[in-house]
Order: sequence, then C-alpha cells, then structure tokens
Amino acid sequence: MKQICENVYEFTHPLIQHKITILRDKNTGTNEFRKVVEEIGMLMGFEALSDLPVKEIEVETPIETCKSPVIAGRKLAIVPILRAGLGMVPGILALTPSAKVGHIGMYRDEETHEPHEYFCKLPQPIEERTIVVTDPMLATGGSAVDAVSQIKKHGGKRIKFLAIIGAPEGVKRLHEAHPDIEIYVGHIDRCLNENAYICPGLGDAGDRIFGTK
Ligand code: PRP
Ligand code: URA
Repeated sequence: MKQICENVYEFTHPLIQHKITILRDKNTGTNEFRKVVEEIGMLMGFEALSDLPVKEIEVETPIETCKSPVIAGRKLAIVPILRAGLGMVPGILALTPSAKVGHIGMYRDEETHEPHEYFCKLPQPIEERTIVVTDPMLATGGSAVDAVSQIKKHGGKRIKFLAIIGAPEGVKRLHEAHPDIEIYVGHIDRCLNENAYICPGLGDAGDRIFGTK
C-alpha cells in the first residue's frame, strides 16, 4: 500500500490490481463482476482494518493453556453507499461477521452530477463504532463527501472510506472536506471525462454489479 498523503492510501498489491483489471474489462459479465467486487472488498477491508485493537485472552489448546489475542474494544459498522457500495459488503462481512450494516442511498443527477440523498439508516449508537464506508467509485467525490457528512451528523467519528477506483479530483475533494477520515483507494485513475465518469475506470459500477442499464 502506498501512502499518498496523511490519511490517503492507494493499494499496490498485485492481487488487487489484477482483480481491478478484470472489473475494467467491458466483457466481464455481471456474475463475475459482482464476485470480484466482493473479493476486492475483502482484500481492501483486510488491510484497512489492520489497526483494529486486540486484547489477550486465555485459551486452552490441545497441548496447553496460553494467552492469545482476539479483536477487542470498538465495534464495527459497514456503511455502503447505495447502490454500488453494497457489492463490497459481503467481502468485509466475511472478515467481521458481527459488524452491523447501515445504508446511505445516494444517486448522482445525470446532468449536474450533484449527489442526492434518498435514504439513511445507521446502526446506533454510531459514535462508538469504527465505520467502514464502501463505494467502488470515487468520481467527483460529491457522493462520498455528503455520505461522510451525514454519518458525522449522526455522531460517527472514526471513519474509513474504501473505494476501488478513484479519480484524482474525487480523492482530493474528499480528503479536503474530511481530512480526519482514512481514505483507501484500490487504484487512482487518470481523470474524469465530460460526463464525470472515471477514465479509464470501469463504467457504471452500480449497473455492472446489478445488471441494470
Ligand atoms: C455512483 C457510484 C458513487 C457515485 C460516484 O453511484 O457508486 O456513489 O456514482 O460519483 P461522485 O463521486 O461523482 O459522486 P450512482 O450515483 O451512479 O448510483 P448507483 O450506485 O445507484 O448506480
Ligand atoms: N459512477 C460510476 O459508477 N462510475 C464512474 O466512472 C463515475 C461515477
């Protein structure tokens, strides 16, 4: 993982880069696309959660009793930005099965590219939880900035944002709006096009995960 600046990280792991190439390919069908988004969610979640606190407990092995670490303290919440963020949730839940899951519904206006929120339901109390926000695409950053603001308004404090692909503009905007959150991006692409799509990107993540158009 490469640190871009304080709290912003880009993945360099070959497995993540390989899987992102599968997502980029326009010939990758819905079934495989969905599976690979889930796998990348797990790989990114694994790394982003490497600072989870642990405590030692006593455990009896078939040989003897020893002290051994377990995850301690802070509880987790996974908060996908609908729709596409949902695709990464099963991968992270596989690592942290007792995490609670909140949802934030956002869609981008096709003309203005401005985000509109249509749903927000977060596990309570959110203040005590480490919150992992998922969205495969960080384009203009508008949806991410608003989603994080909404989570903070509800009391969320310790937030990690996971995106599979980011545009430089979106990463910068999210970091400037919320410098306190950790941002993890699978790959930072070249730029946005005139329709605010990421280039080269992977197209519309929601449509490709759910097979809509
Ligand atoms: C996509 C994507 C992000 C957003 C990114 O969602 O999943 O949420 O666009 O764009 P931004 O950084 O410019 O805000 P979309 O609005 O297409 O909704 P969907 O997931 O329901 O398809
Ligand atoms: N949303 C997507 O799904 N893809 C993009 O490239 C930009 C926003």
